[in-house]
Amino acid sequence: MSEAVRTFLRTNQERFLDELITFLQFPSISTDPSRKEDVQLCASWLRDHLQMLGLQNVQLFPTEGHPVVYGEWLEAGAQAPTVLVYGHYDVQPVDPVDLWDSPPFRPTIRDGAIYARGAMDDKGQVWLQLKALEAWLRVEGRLPVNVKVLIEGEEEIGSVHLGDFVKQHRQMLDADVVLISDTAMLGPEKPAVCYGLRGLAYVELHVRGPRRDLHSGSFGGAVDNPANVLSWMIAQLKDRYGRITIPGFYDDVRPLSELEQQALAQVPFDPAAFAHSIGVPMLYGEAGYSPVEWLWTRPTLDVNGLWSGFQGKGAKTIIPAAAGAKISMRLVPDQSPADIAQKTIRYLQYLAPPTVEIDVLDLYGGDPVLVDPESPPIQVALKALETVYQTSAYLIREGGSIPIVSLFQKQLEATPVLMGFALPTENAHSPNEHFHLDNFYRGMETVAVFYELLAATMAQQSTQKHR
Ligand code: BES
Ligand code: MN
Ligand code: MN
Repeated sequence: MSEAVRTFLRTNQERFLDELITFLQFPSISTDPSRKEDVQLCASWLRDHLQMLGLQNVQLFPTEGHPVVYGEWLEAGAQAPTVLVYGHYDVQPVDPVDLWDSPPFRPTIRDGAIYARGAMDDKGQVWLQLKALEAWLRVEGRLPVNVKVLIEGEEEIGSVHLGDFVKQHRQMLDADVVLISDTAMLGPEKPAVCYGLRGLAYVELHVRGPRRDLHSGSFGGAVDNPANVLSWMIAQLKDRYGRITIPGFYDDVRPLSELEQQALAQVPFDPAAFAHSIGVPMLYGEAGYSPVEWLWTRPTLDVNGLWSGFQGKGAKTIIPAAAGAKISMRLVPDQSPADIAQKTIRYLQYLAPPTVEIDVLDLYGGDPVLVDPESPPIQVALKALETVYQTSAYLIREGGSIPIVSLFQKQLEATPVLMGFALPTENAHSPNEHFHLDNFYRGMETVAVFYELLAATMAQQSTQKHR
């Protein structure tokens, strides 16, 4: 990256921050139907910005849900690699809103960080990607690689309509590399490239008993209780070693290679500090595995929500008519969400006693992702991080999911590069989400460097796929 590009990125920091503040003011909560208009407004604003950057073929694609924002710059030539930049402009809900120290859609700067819903997940990280493009285009009038930008509005609800969109626009989206800033670094001053994401299967279980809530004295003892049944069923899903007991659940789990196991053992991770940071007395996980493996390489099963019976103050003596739970499972290669959902539904049906009726809904799924850490684009990303952060970069995996990434791998045969600039402590999906400004600015520089190194490396290797 030229000195001029770096200077541009540094002298415009204040404007970049002002723009991010505007971006963060849109309450683009994808799951909330009452925010549909706000999501749309955010998308149009983003489209206008891509236009302003000088991207071509800029479009807002409507979907059955929220729109996809797209733009491209393809003048680097057929010899140069093509990078698809992916991110999301939708955000999670803000509740419980009274736990925020400043309103979630009134971005506030304190202690070197910007506080707002979406600050790091993912608007701040989308913004640093766009500003790296802006710097190249304004200063040099070109980019070293071809770039396509795809920002969606449904990541936080499982990218429900993006799969079809990608399949329908394969040619337009064709790329060698998918560059994504939507993950975290290992810690402050510990930049990282992420080569694995967990997948997700999500079901909702309903247990139905008597037609109405019953007096627990007049009926108790002779009628099965949906709340008791639900808790018993949930308790059957894991054994006392933390193993998931759904038949066949682990069939497709790919064992870790010796090499990867050793590499993961080198990752600096302090379980006590981690436990302290989230306020639990100690960590808990599957017997026989390390905390890093619990978080990154082992599948999970967790109740995400649970309801039944009387929730008010004081006591009420009833047998509730119904009970329900939301249950999600994080998946690892090569588990498939559809297969796991099916096995879960079958097991829940088997467990259900004849005294109640149950329904199980399959809410959504996402495939796990694994990228070869030796692949040139990953190595280039490590080098770009090291250039800007002046320290060695880590290879990590993540426990979270980005549902569309595996489809990019399969449909576009592109290598995902997950180069994130958030920190694990920045309250993603929680009150007081924030993003540190030093990583915001260094992120831009890293991306700008990445393009130059990628062009050089891939021209040398000419490992690009045939187009
Ligand atoms: N950016 C996150 C994914 C993520 C989480 C990366 C943690 C690194 C660490 C993404 O926006 C997200 O929250 N994904 C959801 C997907 C779900 C809603 C389908 C997730 O992981 O729960
Ligand atoms: Mn995200
Ligand atoms: Mn998220």
